[in-house]
Amino acid sequence: MSRLVTSATAGSRRVPTRKIGGTAVSAVGLGAMLLSLSGRPDERQAVRTIHAALDAGVTLIDTADAYCIDGPEMGHNERLVAQAVRSWRGDPDAVVIATKGGHYRSRDGAWLVNGRPEYLRRACEASLAALGFDTITLYQHHRPDPAVAYEDSIGALKGLQEEGKVRFIGIGNASVAQIRQAMSIVELASVQNEFSPAFRTSAPEIELCAQKGIAFLAWGPLGGMSAAGTLGERHPAFEQVARSHGVSPQQVCLAWELARAPVVIPIPGSRKPETILDSLGAVELHLDEDELALLDGR
Ligand SMILES: NC(=O)c1ccc[n+]([C@@H]2O[C@H](COP(=O)([O-])OP(=O)(O)OC[C@H]3O[C@@H](n4cnc5c(N)ncnc54)[C@H](OP(=O)(O)O)[C@@H]3O)[C@@H](O)[C@H]2O)c1
Repeated sequence: MSRLVTSATAGSRRVPTRKIGGTAVSAVGLGAMLLSLSGRPDERQAVRTIHAALDAGVTLIDTADAYCIDGPEMGHNERLVAQAVRSWRGDPDAVVIATKGGHYRSRDGAWLVNGRPEYLRRACEASLAALGFDTITLYQHHRPDPAVAYEDSIGALKGLQEEGKVRFIGIGNASVAQIRQAMSIVELASVQNEFSPAFRTSAPEIELCAQKGIAFLAWGPLGGMSAAGTLGERHPAFEQVARSHGVSPQQVCLAWELARAPVVIPIPGSRKPETILDSLGAVELHLDEDELALLDGR
């Protein structure tokens, strides 16, 4: 099974790519969430981080309208990412900014969901304005809303696609049954679920995506902000393999995720250039079967 599909140039470097819908993106994307939550860097550092990723060949940035501190700030991360991509010295059209709707933040910062069709339409229109786009390349339904029939939420995205506001449709935090349900309504381009050494329960969803040729965007791929730095201590097999290659356990982790299926695209978060540059090295790290078995715990 080939790990890498093809290769494309965005910034100064060529990075192996994978597909979302028909579009090739770097096999590792940048998760932009931490650039807008509490504990975020100042704007100059945030833009430097995004530019470093793009210069190194990243062509996928994951954002969402709800990546902000509280309700009045909705769209913060989309505006930041769009501005950084526009001010980058390379070609902004070579970069896919993937966003999401369906989560919102209350005035005091709580994470809430709204999957009603009329809300998703308003959210998509607000994302188009925040990004400065006529069409969003990948629009993802962030998380199912238990108060709304799933087919109604997905049907709303279908309507947005028919109107040309959205090119590809993705879903997030979805079960195998929800992926199948979404596939019966739309041509599904991606699924974004949590997957990391500490959280492997999305394995069946990855398997289904691999069978159907749907991109699987692994969120929290290093275990999230509070655990990513100590990944090697938490998961000694990753530390062991990292030592033998002379690389970081985080790089081994992302290479292990890439090796799981050719549809997997990890989107590690970074608040500084060093971490995304290290993470991107995973696209060139080959792990053999024995190493993969060790990391799988087989
Ligand atoms: N769909 C959803 O419901 C959902 C939910 C959560 C997240 N997401 C998406 O997934 C993305 C990633 O998730 P996440 O940011 O929560 O978790 P993560 O990627 O597992 O961890 C992020 C942390 O990893 C550190 N890191 C990154 N690369 C590293 C490296 N090579 N070596 C050492 N440390 C490294 C970063 O450090 P620094 O901060 O110091 O750079 C950051 O604090 C988000 O940005 C967002 O786009 C989606």
